[in-house]
Amino acid sequence: MKVLVTGGAGYIGSTATSILLDRGYGVTVLDDCSTGHAESVDARATFINGSILDAATVRKALAGVEAVLHFTAKSLVGESVTKPEIYWNTNVNGSRILLEEMRTLGVKRLVFSSTAATYGEPKEIPITENSQTKPTNPYGASKLAVDYMITSEAVAHGLAAISLRYFNVAGAHKSARGWLTEKHDPETHLIPNILRASAEKPLKIFGTDWPTADGTCIRDYIHVVDLIDAHIAALDAAQPGTHEIINLGSGGGYSVKEVIAAAQSSVGHAIPADIAPRRAGDPAVLIADISKAKSILKWEPTRDIQAMVSDTWESFH
Ligand SMILES: NC(=O)c1ccc[n+]([C@@H]2O[C@H](COP(=O)([O-])OP(=O)(O)OC[C@H]3O[C@@H](n4cnc5c(N)ncnc54)[C@H](O)[C@@H]3O)[C@@H](O)[C@H]2O)c1
Repeated sequence: MKVLVTGGAGYIGSTATSILLDRGYGVTVLDDCSTGHAESVDARATFINGSILDAATVRKALAGVEAVLHFTAKSLVGESVTKPEIYWNTNVNGSRILLEEMRTLGVKRLVFSSTAATYGEPKEIPITENSQTKPTNPYGASKLAVDYMITSEAVAHGLAAISLRYFNVAGAHKSARGWLTEKHDPETHLIPNILRASAEKPLKIFGTDWPTADGTCIRDYIHVVDLIDAHIAALDAAQPGTHEIINLGSGGGYSVKEVIAAAQSSVGHAIPADIAPRRAGDPAVLIADISKAKSILKWEPTRDIQAMVSDTWESFH
């Protein structure tokens, strides 16, 4: 099967591309390298360096394709508050153009990168796919809008679609061509920031007075390779005329202090850290209920926080 990977020069999309190729899929990558990196695209893939906002380019990228893994997005929460227009354009309009071109060309299978940010402040833990969706920033709202768009496309036009709501993706993938890892700029994710902390630039821990056992926030982390395994299962599981929404996490959580402890055991020295005030809008605990992923995708995460930290550490050296 030939698959279009949108955003295939990014952290998660480049990992998906490499693993799909290893498993015998054909892959076309569409990416404008605005936050991704051309050198991360596996040389075996057909690479179209262009924007998802250009319908003619999207049409070209869909040639001969049977399914799409749609990773393209802007995904910085803070930037989405100050420049929401970028998020409505790339995330929502880009997805609209993709769906339109898929419909025109008869490409009927889609797996979309949704996010835990669609839920906002949780009323219950763990978060299920039926939990309230009340995003607290334009990034989460734009992803929720795309989820609605995909549901209506499936109902009206028979698309087979699955949205995967990722919690915190971490870790790195050692491909035959070298490590594929997080190269975000700015980097807002905890594990790379822990591993890059130094005496000159210590890690900031945002609050140690949360209602958790050690006072720091708890998040659910999933290894990027487990995440891609779930995408490949989703490609097979998607049913015509149906849009399933499925959480992807580990189903458990780690506090910021626990992630730091895991990192210290990988790097063999203390992580320099300062305590900063809480950030507005940060929930104390975010943990996914992953029972739907287990039952529909016949999938389970297999890599723990230590693997996520040590793979990232190795990929940085
Ligand atoms: N990393 C996480 O923890 C996480 C969590 C939840 C959801 N997600 C979602 O997963 C997806 C991938 O995230 P990532 O961490 O790999 O981000 P990333 O920024 O590394 O990858 C996104 C890719 O999309 C490309 N892109 C952006 N605008 C484009 C455009 N107009 N046309 C073509 N390409 C364009 C970028 O160049 C980049 O390569 C995103 O949709 C993100 O919202 C990520």
